[in-house]
Amino acid sequence: MSMIERVIEKAKSDVRTIVFPEGNEKRTILAATRLMKEKIVIPVLLGDPDEIQKMAEQLGADLTDIRIENPAASAAYAEYAKALYEIRKNKGVTFDVAENMTLDPMYYGIMMVKLGDADGLVSGAVHTTGDMLRPALQIIKTKPDMKIVSSSFLMDCPDKSLGEDGLLVYADCVVMPCPTAEELAYIAIATADTAKRLCGFKEPRVAMLSFSTKGSAKHESVSKVRKAVEIAHNLAPDLLLDGEMQFDAALVPEIGAAKAKGSPVAGRANVLIFPDLQAGNIGYKITQRIGRAECFAVLQGLNKPCNDLSRGCSVDDIVHTAAMTAVQAQA
Ligand code: ACO
Repeated sequence: MSMIERVIEKAKSDVRTIVFPEGNEKRTILAATRLMKEKIVIPVLLGDPDEIQKMAEQLGADLTDIRIENPAASAAYAEYAKALYEIRKNKGVTFDVAENMTLDPMYYGIMMVKLGDADGLVSGAVHTTGDMLRPALQIIKTKPDMKIVSSSFLMDCPDKSLGEDGLLVYADCVVMPCPTAEELAYIAIATADTAKRLCGFKEPRVAMLSFSTKGSAKHESVSKVRKAVEIAHNLAPDLLLDGEMQFDAALVPEIGAAKAKGSPVAGRANVLIFPDLQAGNIGYKITQRIGRAECFAVLQGLNKPCNDLSRGCSVDDIVHTAAMTAVQAQA
């Protein structure tokens, strides 16, 4: 069974409600019907019901039993607008503005999650990453023990000798353009947690990546990674984490042994933390395109799960992201 098949089975074992703000989008409608039929999650589509029904008919999709909610006509609208105003009033949001924001399906969906009327949210087939992330950051905010929101990419590689039977977890590839040493430490800790919960890793082994291994090069960007290692050790003393180290020293046993002798992680890492977003984003795309890995992205560190899709996503991608969101909600 592949990693994503295991995630789908786990989602089915304790079915959660997931809201889709882009309810009138074709791929989302098709994914919702599959999620409902296969009992993976209970989907809620947001938008104008007539428009969604019309689109479903064109697609030949059966929306029987699927909840469709129109923010403008919903009984919960007033409660959500009031709660949104309370959360954002100290940021200059007036009540009128809060009412308008609540009409936006993205904010409405986020309020459903915030107030417990849905367990998680999936969006991004139409919206950009920033448009999807900002409402989640403003309203759901981070978990109490987490300073920042970041992302993990679960990379399922054809070479099963890598990582954990071919599975590697990369971070951060989506959110934090230039993390500080402290932020990098939090990214590492959050990613180890994602590796445990979603990939079932019993022992996350975290490599903090650099172009230097254990002092082989000197530069302020290397010092940042070394500092992050120190902070992460203080924050999570039981976590197997080491660095700074190069990509090959992290993954190849002989190179790890030669360059980072005695490291508990070098040569056997299954979680790879990139020093910034440029490296992380390029790294996952190289692994996907040249390494032919399947990849699955999730946000981590949010107080309740909300996940982003790529605008080029397929129906399968939406189903997979919904299942991962549900498993995050189970935790
Ligand atoms: N963690 C927690 N909170 C955050 C974070 C974070 N990483 N970033 C911003 N916030 C909070 C801020 O504190 C602020 O809260 P407040 O309004 O309550 O004070 C709120 O979120 C908005 O912050 P801004 O700084 O105004 O948000 P910004 O407009 O900079 O957007 C964003 C934040 C969207 C995450 C930005 O950092 C970004 O664009 N990141 C890159 C996204 C991207 O394009 N990724 C690559 C493409 S995706 C792909 O390839 C798969």
